[in-house]
Amino acid sequence: MSTRHESAHLHVSGRALYTDDIPLPANTLHGAFGLSSIAHGRIRTMDLAPVLASPGVVAVATAADVPGENNYGSAVHDDPIFAPDVVEYVGAPIFAVAADNYSRARKAARGAQLEYEPLPAILDIRAALAAQATVLPSQRLVRGRPREMLEQAPHRLQDTVYIGGQDHFYLEGQIAIATPQEDGAMLIQSSTQHPSEVQQIVAHALARHSSQITVQCRRMGGGFGGKETQPALIAAAAAVLAHKTGRTVKLRLDRDTDMLMTGKRHDFLADYDVGFDQSGRILGLAVMLASRCGYSADLSGPVNDRAVMHLDNAYYLEHVEIVSHRCKTHTVSNTAFRGFGGPQGMMVIEQIIDSIARTLGLDPLVVRRRNFYGTHERNVTHYGQVVEDNLVHAIVDRLAESSRYAERHKRITEWNATRPIVRRGIALTPVKFGISFTATLFNQAGALIHVYTDGTVLLNHGGTEMGQGLFTKVAEVVANELGLPMAAIRVSATDTSKVPNTSATAASASSDLNGKAAQAAAAAIRGRLTQFACETYGVTDNEVSFRDGQVFIGSQQLAFAELVAQAYRARVSLSATGFYRTPKIQYDKNTLQGRPFFYFAYGAAVSEVAVDTLTGETQLLRVEILHDVGRSLNPAIDLGQIEGGFLQGVGWLTSEELWWNARGELRTHAPSTYKIPTARDWPPRWEVRMLENCPNREETIHRSKAVGEPPLMLAISTFLAIRDAVAGVSGAVPGLVAPATPEAVLRAIEAIGTETVGERLSMVSAEADA
Ligand code: MTE
Ligand code: MOS
Repeated sequence: MSTRHESAHLHVSGRALYTDDIPLPANTLHGAFGLSSIAHGRIRTMDLAPVLASPGVVAVATAADVPGENNYGSAVHDDPIFAPDVVEYVGAPIFAVAADNYSRARKAARGAQLEYEPLPAILDIRAALAAQATVLPSQRLVRGRPREMLEQAPHRLQDTVYIGGQDHFYLEGQIAIATPQEDGAMLIQSSTQHPSEVQQIVAHALARHSSQITVQCRRMGGGFGGKETQPALIAAAAAVLAHKTGRTVKLRLDRDTDMLMTGKRHDFLADYDVGFDQSGRILGLAVMLASRCGYSADLSGPVNDRAVMHLDNAYYLEHVEIVSHRCKTHTVSNTAFRGFGGPQGMMVIEQIIDSIARTLGLDPLVVRRRNFYGTHERNVTHYGQVVEDNLVHAIVDRLAESSRYAERHKRITEWNATRPIVRRGIALTPVKFGISFTATLFNQAGALIHVYTDGTVLLNHGGTEMGQGLFTKVAEVVANELGLPMAAIRVSATDTSKVPNTSATAASASSDLNGKAAQAAAAAIRGRLTQFACETYGVTDNEVSFRDGQVFIGSQQLAFAELVAQAYRARVSLSATGFYRTPKIQYDKNTLQGRPFFYFAYGAAVSEVAVDTLTGETQLLRVEILHDVGRSLNPAIDLGQIEGGFLQGVGWLTSEELWWNARGELRTHAPSTYKIPTARDWPPRWEVRMLENCPNREETIHRSKAVGEPPLMLAISTFLAIRDAVAGVSGAVPGLVAPATPEAVLRAIEAIGTETVGERLSMVSAEADA
């Protein structure tokens, strides 16, 4: 059902409470971090006396003040909360200060006197590869005989693909409030996708038990993966200050600090060697994939694994070798970001296919189709999973037809032949994205439902709300299960004391997981009510049904609230937990083989762009999307996810550029220099449709499919449309790097251009005269 977002009325009226809006106790302190100003070095001396003497300051905390473990690393314990002696990136937290207000805390933090002994810094992927610096061991996945096939192939291409990173730019920055409770307990209010991890890390930092730490999150103003591991750092620092002072400490990062301190999407480079036949079919492929992980492991292991496992996208790679290096650099530690490595893997193969097409003089869509997975053969991925419900053909066929791709492609080629200045480009690209956490254990969820005697329902589950509509979807599942209107269901804040040991709200799987868990809890209560009705009214359970807020018992009809009140008086339990674990999945992370994904989500998009070859500016003119969400849990919310995901992907690939200088300082740390798309970047002509009558063939919640991340990768069509326009200049294979900023576009044009800017300028006047 297209019910509106459960908080829509609060969002639009400004009444939704985000962590920063929570009323604070009178003696609350405000925190700020002191950061490293160098990329790599040893702290020789640290004088914090000026910080302590600064007006309003109550306490300072360093590594020495952490009572337990000074670490917030999730997978590997290599992320200090406060740098102990060595700093490894510009922006690394060294200490935190608590003062009586926010601006005084920030001002005080700048007063620290630090002297460093500089150490050599590795700043980019090539430098890390040369030094063999990695945060985790490299991975290698081979199928078939790629080397042999490369030797035999009639055509061969070798090139490098570079894909930039991305800042999450959630509108609400990182924030946590730590409030000491009695007897060593601590309450943490955190803007986090992963309350259970914040709980564990705060417990370790304070040397307490998990049972003493409670973490709550009502909602986030966006997370996009940036609040999967990073919030633990903010919460742990706030908790250490709260522990030291015995007072509530609120720690909120301003935008610049947030961008300097916290991890981003990994940038990648790929050196590839591909062999193909005259039709464009890939015969053999070898790829060296390397990503900038930053100074620590964080989630780089699974992010890079997912890049390896999405390097096929929709294509059958019979003979393939992928080597994946997880490079260590003295920059911020990169982390989860919508798509989790998948988008980068897909960008590699999509550019390879595009280059093959241009080399052979074929339409890239023709080459794509020749390489698609088959439905009954050529349907096993390089990691051993069978593609069971290949929807790529159906989606691409329909979209190519509805968008009149072939006709437009031809028209654009003709247009470009006569107009040298403003070129057009078009591309149609598919998406196949695996749904489930690759680490099998995370694919579990719990829920807790209370029914009160007035017949209203309070729902709690392990997922968090970040704008994606999870709470709405799960509430709809419960409403449906109990035959109640949405108004009867209230979703409460995610809370580690209600549902324990939860997984991060991530991998797009949260409605699959929490929806099923909540359904199980609701079904348990409905079962008890049904049994009570049978005993009380002398009917059998198939004579009892729940709908429209009523319970139908044989020939009688009762308000749900009335049956609940009767059941309460008869001492029937009206509270239940539910649990779900995803079936069928198994995966060996050492060999990268198995069935890591319960199913795949599919989609495709056509983008048409205009590129000004004199300025390098691009404009997205038109987009059409056809996306597979199975049987949608909520079409309105899913549409929002598709549109938002797509545009966020367009930002990643066209305008959002992270730029570090030679000292390893990120210079793009505010909206003045870092350009995210705005509403005006949405194309003037667009159409977004969901694939209809196509329920998930796996037994997911109401046969829906996950939708949070896959649409981001539809934006690859926009990048390749720009590449198409750039190629139009000479027909050669353009070396366009992502993001395709005006500078990148101009560089690509210059590199392959047959004419210089001056010559093109003279053509402008010719074009104007004509
Ligand atoms: N949508 C909004 N509005 N805000 C967000 O932060 N995060 C994305 C996606 N959609 C995000 C979003 C990411 S990275 C993921 S993994 C999924 O939502 C997580 O939620 P889900 O599992 O409920 O889809
Ligand atoms: Mo999303 S990157 O899995 O939080």
